[in-house]
Amino acid sequence: TADSVVLADGVRMPLVGLGMLHVSSEEAIEPVRFALEAGYRAIDTAAVYGNEAGVGQAIRESALERDDVFVTTKVWNTDHGYDETMRAFDKSLGRLGLDYVDLYLIHWPMVSVGKIAETWRALEEIKRQGRTRSIGVSNFMVKHLEQLARDSDEVPSVNQIELHPWLQQRELEGYHAAHGIRTEAWSPLGQGKVLQNPTVMAIGARHKKSAAQVILRWHIDCGRVVIPKSVNGARIRENIDVFDFVLDSDEMAAMASLNTDRRIGSHPDSPPTVGLPFDD
Ligand code: A2P
Repeated sequence: TADSVVLADGVRMPLVGLGMLHVSSEEAIEPVRFALEAGYRAIDTAAVYGNEAGVGQAIRESALERDDVFVTTKVWNTDHGYDETMRAFDKSLGRLGLDYVDLYLIHWPMVSVGKIAETWRALEEIKRQGRTRSIGVSNFMVKHLEQLARDSDEVPSVNQIELHPWLQQRELEGYHAAHGIRTEAWSPLGQGKVLQNPTVMAIGARHKKSAAQVILRWHIDCGRVVIPKSVNGARIRENIDVFDFVLDSDEMAAMASLNTDRRIGSHPDSPPTVGLPFDD
């Protein structure tokens, strides 16, 4: 179908998911419920977001079957190591109230902790147990992916990274393409800061689409999965209404020209040390 991709491990993943960063557990219930009713089939959370319970509740209470929804969560920086990650995963599943997730990610590379290989081994085991369908990483740079490739046989199916018109990550995407890793863009809208860009707005005017829709369509036309964050019903709906147009080659070139290598979020080598509290 037009609205999903098949990962290198054979698992099908929706192209658009709802991002849930900076949303409390209680605040997450309504947008997740709304998104599932509006046609979303993927929700992205993380242990550190502190909202797995609310996200899980909204998924469990929806009219959808469990296997109709693609659920992603992530192991936080303080839980690196084999046993630590196994325990952290159990807790995440418990908070979500689910039997399995679809994608489990290492949230940040955490080179300083020195246990990426052990953490990855735990993810491989969790997948082998059938408690996650896919495994991947987040915020990995080429050097982190190269090290992981030396330490392990299993390639991450996904690398979820900051990627938007200002930060296009071409070298990293090239590595992904060469190794069968799907790029998943977090803050695909540049946290909403790229929406006033005249180039993006002009493309939108031609297609009668919003700036946000143009950017999301650009990501999809580049082969990426996107997880725009919104808690607003109209914007949640807008962000998945991107399957009735495509950008032409001039428009794709105009989008490519917006790159300034400007990061809005944390650099992978200095991951955030604080986040929302876990909700267990
Ligand atoms: P809100 O939750 O109030 O909708 P990103 O996913 O790139 O981090 O962007 C998220 C930010 O962009 C949030 O502040 C969100 O606010 C806002 N946002 C999400 N979708 C849209 C949209 N379609 N139009 C305008 N702002 C949006």
